[in-house]
Amino acid sequence: MKHQTCLVVDFGGQYTQLIVRRVRELGVYSEMVPWMTAADRIRELDPHAVILSGGPASVLDDGAPTMDFSVLEDKPVLGICYGLQLMALQLGGKVEKALDREYGRRNIDHVSEGSILDGFASEQVWMSHGDQVLEAPPGFEVIAKTESCPIAGIQSGKRFGVQFHPEVTHTPRGKELLKRFLFDHAGFAGDWTSASFIEESLARIQEEVGTGRVLCAVSGGVDSSVVAALLTKALGDQVTCVFVDHGLLRKDEAKHVIEQFTDHFHPNLVAIDARDQFFGALKGVLDPEDKRKIIGAEFVRCFEAHADELKDCEFLAQGTLYPDVIESGSPTSAKIKSHHNVGGLPDWMRMKVIEPLRWLFKDEVREVGRALGLPDEMVDREPFPGPGLGVRVLGEVTPERVHMVQEADAIFREMIASHGLRQGIWQSYAALLDVKTVGVMGDERTHQSPIVLRAVASEDAMTATAVAFPFEFLEAVANRIVNEVKGVNRVFYDYTSKPPATIEME
Ligand code: XMP
Repeated sequence: MKHQTCLVVDFGGQYTQLIVRRVRELGVYSEMVPWMTAADRIRELDPHAVILSGGPASVLDDGAPTMDFSVLEDKPVLGICYGLQLMALQLGGKVEKALDREYGRRNIDHVSEGSILDGFASEQVWMSHGDQVLEAPPGFEVIAKTESCPIAGIQSGKRFGVQFHPEVTHTPRGKELLKRFLFDHAGFAGDWTSASFIEESLARIQEEVGTGRVLCAVSGGVDSSVVAALLTKALGDQVTCVFVDHGLLRKDEAKHVIEQFTDHFHPNLVAIDARDQFFGALKGVLDPEDKRKIIGAEFVRCFEAHADELKDCEFLAQGTLYPDVIESGSPTSAKIKSHHNVGGLPDWMRMKVIEPLRWLFKDEVREVGRALGLPDEMVDREPFPGPGLGVRVLGEVTPERVHMVQEADAIFREMIASHGLRQGIWQSYAALLDVKTVGVMGDERTHQSPIVLRAVASEDAMTATAVAFPFEFLEAVANRIVNEVKGVNRVFYDYTSKPPATIEME
């Protein structure tokens, strides 16, 4: 990125991503780097300012996460929670080990006039920490305290530290603190917008690809559509869009995507019917990670098998997003699933991958899509996983089992729309469980499969809550599904939030 960057060093805190989001909301480009590689990244990127995140460890423990502070010498720095404690310790202050954790809302009861927290006296802040700073480092002023935390904020020149979390909504004026840090002290311009992202991306794509050819895999979803639009703008007919019908799409979706692309958007589209290939490769496979990897590999096989039609593309463009990158396992976060467009590409693939959206969150991608003039219908589409219904058909993926999900899913979504319940839903879908239950239909015993319905509200897919539909609505959906979908005799609704569950079932 050519833009001035605010780098957020991740010490493993649960809110680190939120810091990045808040900073970006203020028009400043921000990215996250794990603490182990932070110093190298700072030397390489030369960010304009650095924020040190919170984290679950104690700075006083052997082997606690740390970093080389010499790289921060002339930079504006804001330490948050663990970041504050680490800064205090590294610069010659003292930190005391806590017996108990302090967790929850607190009020600031004193701030220093003229400090970065000026005017925050008696403001509510969110605390979540064990250790705390006992003595500020030489040259630092203590700028805030609360009843239980005598050193809740420190500052010296362009270095600041707060014990509370400004990035969470439970600190109502937290964003103002970030704003003061970024604009008054670090001197950012706040000009990172969709338009500037597009401008930079076009230049970067042209530089990376040169006169090469790019295969852009499209699914009809917002991410790949935005990638296709960006690439087409940057490279014109050096781009060939390829749509693979793997048989794992929603009911009638393949037809719809092909129509939408060829009629309204990108005429240079190759549509591949690979349903038999995918079902063949998935035969007998039960493990969710195996399924994802197989689906990823079959995609690439498909592209490579069509190399003639694809005029020997050297580059493969994908709509990978920042949460996919983070969730596919950075050194500080556990690997949850291999999202096929990050973790699942096989080693033998010869095309080079380009991922123009890998630094963006979903809502930012939608903004970019709008700025590129994509129709609302495309931009506002629900996210749909790359492995498609492969991760919503638990157990073996067969054409018959996929068909059951497609039918149940179509009923559920059609009823959500006809009851005016779409508002506030991030994703909604039906899935098929890998068990059978007993039922009775027309005096006959049945032994059939249950469908699970899931609908969630979310801001960025990192966390999610189940949608509270009226009971009568769910009952009516269940009735229609068991009556109309052959092989289904029971319907469940999934109430679980993420965490502890994930949005998809596998
Ligand atoms: P989970 O299930 O991890 O999903 O809570 C988070 C978001 O990512 C989508 N998802 C995927 N998208 N390839 C994708 O392109 C994948 O393998 C994949 N797995 C999950 C999911 O639909 C949700 O929006």
